[in-house]
Amino acid sequence: MGPTLRAWLLAVVHVVAVQSLTNSTSSFSFSGVPSSAVSPTNTSTGTTASSSSSFSTVTSVTTTSTTPASVATETGPLTWPISEYPFTPFPTPTFAPIPPIFPETDPLNPPPVSSDFNVVPDFAPAWATAYEKAKSMIANFTIEQKVNITTGVGWMNGLCVGNIPSVAEFPGLCLQDSPLGVRFTDLVTTFPAGVTTASTWNRALIRARGLALGQEFHAKGVNIALGPMMNMGRVAQGGRNWEGFGADPFLTGEAAYETILGLQQAGVQATAKHYINNEQEWKRTQESSNVDDRTEHEIYAHPFLRSVMAGVSSVMCSYNLVNDTYACNNYKILSDILKREFGFQGYVMSDWAATMNTLSAVAGLDMTMAGDITLGSGTTYFGANLTAYVMNNTISEARLDDMATRIIAAWYYMHQDQGYPNVTIDSFHPYNPLNYEVNAQSDHYQLVRQIGAAGTVLLKNEMNALPLNKPRSVVLVGSDAAPPVSGPNEYSDQGGDPTGILALGWGSGTTNFTYLVSPYEAIQARARQDQTSVFWDFDNWNLDQAGNSVITAEVAIVFINSDSGEETGKTLTAWHEGDELVLAVAAQNNNTIVVVNSVGPLIIEPWVDHPNVTAIVWASLGGNEAGNAIVDILYGAWNPSGRLPYTIAKNASDYSAQLVLGGTATDILSIDYTEGLYIDYRWFDAQNITPRYEFGYGLSYTTFEYSQLVVTPVDASVDSAQAELIQNWENGGTSPIEEGSSTALWLHMPLFQVTFNVENTGPVYGGEIPQLYVHHPPSAGEPPSVLKGFTDIELVPGQTGQASITISRYDLSVWDVVRQGWAKPNGTIGFSIGASSRDFRLDGTFPL
Ligand code: BGC
Repeated sequence: MGPTLRAWLLAVVHVVAVQSLTNSTSSFSFSGVPSSAVSPTNTSTGTTASSSSSFSTVTSVTTTSTTPASVATETGPLTWPISEYPFTPFPTPTFAPIPPIFPETDPLNPPPVSSDFNVVPDFAPAWATAYEKAKSMIANFTIEQKVNITTGVGWMNGLCVGNIPSVAEFPGLCLQDSPLGVRFTDLVTTFPAGVTTASTWNRALIRARGLALGQEFHAKGVNIALGPMMNMGRVAQGGRNWEGFGADPFLTGEAAYETILGLQQAGVQATAKHYINNEQEWKRTQESSNVDDRTEHEIYAHPFLRSVMAGVSSVMCSYNLVNDTYACNNYKILSDILKREFGFQGYVMSDWAATMNTLSAVAGLDMTMAGDITLGSGTTYFGANLTAYVMNNTISEARLDDMATRIIAAWYYMHQDQGYPNVTIDSFHPYNPLNYEVNAQSDHYQLVRQIGAAGTVLLKNEMNALPLNKPRSVVLVGSDAAPPVSGPNEYSDQGGDPTGILALGWGSGTTNFTYLVSPYEAIQARARQDQTSVFWDFDNWNLDQAGNSVITAEVAIVFINSDSGEETGKTLTAWHEGDELVLAVAAQNNNTIVVVNSVGPLIIEPWVDHPNVTAIVWASLGGNEAGNAIVDILYGAWNPSGRLPYTIAKNASDYSAQLVLGGTATDILSIDYTEGLYIDYRWFDAQNITPRYEFGYGLSYTTFEYSQLVVTPVDASVDSAQAELIQNWENGGTSPIEEGSSTALWLHMPLFQVTFNVENTGPVYGGEIPQLYVHHPPSAGEPPSVLKGFTDIELVPGQTGQASITISRYDLSVWDVVRQGWAKPNGTIGFSIGASSRDFRLDGTFPL
């Protein structure tokens, strides 16, 4: 594996010197909104509150927002408690931080990476300072000026995919995709996709990617990066799952946390998206995700909670409805869960044209993007409409102040008032030289290659097929081994049938490639070094030819892929007759290695057990160094340490949730989350369904043994307010209903430290990913095993190292729907330490 990860990281994680930019054409102009748009027709308040003083009584109602109607609440003033939040995390006013557990943290200086959560960063003081500055900035703003801070200039009316105009001394904002790099421009890095990054299960690499991404957005003058994406992969066929971090809330939450800390360290605002239940891209604007409160809290909202704990600046609400109310118009999820319970102090922006009415501002929406009602319409629900609603008192000016304050506060919070670079991208004019004025790439290719390798999962390896050792001859079969026929950007937003290596999916979650290394090129370079004969056949459609091409080869490597992207579902089979291609090659060569570049799980039953298929390399989506990363795995330069972030099933029907198709052009599809907490491995475990490869699984070129499990209560002194809450929890009480109650320190500070030894018992240096699964008592009604910790450890042969994972009260709690708080379940809480969700090596219980 070469130098250790730590040394390598030290070498590559450094801040890109920000270039001083001249000749910027960055300018924002706000195109006014016709006053005829003042009375939007698609309206619904979506929520109702029976009391203005207690949030616990706020409930979602089932009025769909598609009913064109004159909604009674639009005619009179609304008095929901919009601006009562104290903006301090509960219950810190009485709590003196105990270093090092709860250090005051500036987002530009986050705590170091650790799987021992001995540090819970406290961003509250940074927010407080930013709020003061923002309030003073808007003090003399007119209503129109404040409204302009909240209203995007409209689709394709600026340099970025989203633009807030300059207002007085506020210079405006540039919002730009994507979660894996800067979209729509040149001289940027295409990082491995979210799902590949999550497959590393390596916090240091995830953080390093966040930082490198942030440095590129910063260098290009982007204020707000539109990522990370943290939808959950509830449905294996979800078209955008690859942008996210897999099918488990804990893994997704940790990946989101590290990505945000890294991105914001570079001075760029991160956006947690898409909030919430945007779990199937098919008909995403016309589906209601119907989710119970417990499932919402424990599964889908969890990564957003971790985002708030990472100090995220913004959250993007999604296109879909949640329990029959549009997400961007949903008081329960925007104001009650996100702003009250999680104590989120940044701002909520809409997904592009996901704002459904002006009163969304009351539900908790702070910024409408891209600004227009439908992209390019020139109308807006904010702009003149919002001004009119505030002027006639339908919406309070206090709420407008809150919206503008949140947006400007996030800008101060990220210190973007201090010499931020000019925008040097032009999203809609690719030939504008502005796009190559700044080269943002630095040496990030090294990190791309490393994450590509670390995010590759070795699923099968028989007869020591891998790593390759100077083979006499290698034949590469399949178009996925090749460079794309018409170059790496043959389709806009990668939106077409890939003709070569699949290194990312399609849609807004992409970048243009500055360059792309295919396996063909990378293996050729390696072959020269080893003096290996290399042949290839990139034609997937001539199976006889493919079979014949490998007859005398020492090694046949078949490359297959499967793609998906925005606004579609995905298939669970390989594209381009990939299964047939594998079988044709395996029929002729008894050392057939299959490399898979896939956006997510596939059914690989047709060939997985074929005796001639000696190895399977799950290479996911590697970004612009994809070919090099695959070579590093094939030849053992990187000992595989990736683990599956989802389950690979034997049958599509084994998964607990399927795509919901159908519906007419105007229907709202009902998607009932009837499986509740039982997504992915939680379902397979509970139903005793044997997967092909389970969540958390992955092989190495070495072996590891686990021993010496010790659980130690963490002795942390707390003040009396925290002590009371802890006592209450221990006695079976729930967390209180207050602002920030779900992100409170007492709930998240370490409670137990779990340590154990890991020994490298095999022949080569390598990294192991120990995973901690909690087994709740039957009274809790939880799935049999739920991931609540993981770490990574690298060892030379014969070496034993100690690994450590901490567990908080929150990690052990379940969401009590009746009492609306986090509670300790009754009974013994057990856990296992394992190498996957089904390979447990050590078992223990928590001494509660
Ligand atoms: C996507 C978002 C993206 C936005 C701006 C939307 O269609 O859902 O993820 O950030 O467009 O491009």
